[in-house]
Amino acid sequence: MSVNANIPTLYDKALCSKYKILTSAFFYPRGIRDFILQGLPIKDNDRILDAGCGHGILSRAIRSKIKREAVQGTQQFAFDISDDMLQGFRKTGADGIDLRRLDVRELSYDNDFFDLIVTSAMLEYVPDIENALSSLKRCLKPGGKIYVFMSKKTRLNHFLFQPFGKPRCYSFPELTNILLRVGFQNIERQRFPASSFWLNIWGIIVEAGKT
Ligand SMILES: C[S@@+](CC[C@H](N)C(=O)[O-])C[C@H]1O[C@@H](n2cnc3c(N)ncnc32)[C@H](O)[C@@H]1O
Repeated sequence: MSVNANIPTLYDKALCSKYKILTSAFFYPRGIRDFILQGLPIKDNDRILDAGCGHGILSRAIRSKIKREAVQGTQQFAFDISDDMLQGFRKTGADGIDLRRLDVRELSYDNDFFDLIVTSAMLEYVPDIENALSSLKRCLKPGGKIYVFMSKKTRLNHFLFQPFGKPRCYSFPELTNILLRVGFQNIERQRFPASSFWLNIWGIIVEAGKT
């Protein structure tokens, strides 16, 4: 448990419950699952990290994909800064997942450790996003990939997410420039599949690589 005491935990119990209601109302877990099942490339023996995992929507979708496709030898890791979110994750099932309380800017994983990193709706809350992305890049293997899911910079999102810790949203060009500055390459925009098309109104998905 290494967490910088100066960093406030935004997502306390009350906000965790509100967040669950919000995500269910927009069928967000289903959309994430659809994308992960169809669009996330997972190979045998991959080490996969869910950064800012909250109560585990992405990690659970990844676990389903691994089971469904009988991918062998994978290891799943997840972290979040909020104890309450992590508790929610444990309650709904985190078996087999290495779960840690960490701040994205002070990660305790080795360099070049992960094959795949996914992160959704977390970077919006970190005041210095470049620092957070550099920290994730350090832990990603050369040849590895990161998938960033992020709330788009729109009036609707600004209004909707005010009560959820006032995230700073980014447009696709802004996020691309940040990823390039941090040293990621091969940046590509992805989309939620047709079965959950409405989530493309909410967010952007960006795939980037480390060489
Ligand atoms: C909107 S929730 C998203 C949770 C989950 N990724 C999902 O898609 O449902 C944002 C999460 O980011 C976490 N978070 C915010 N700042 C963080 C930081 N500096 N380090 C790690 N996690 C952080 C919060 O605790 C919260 O669980």
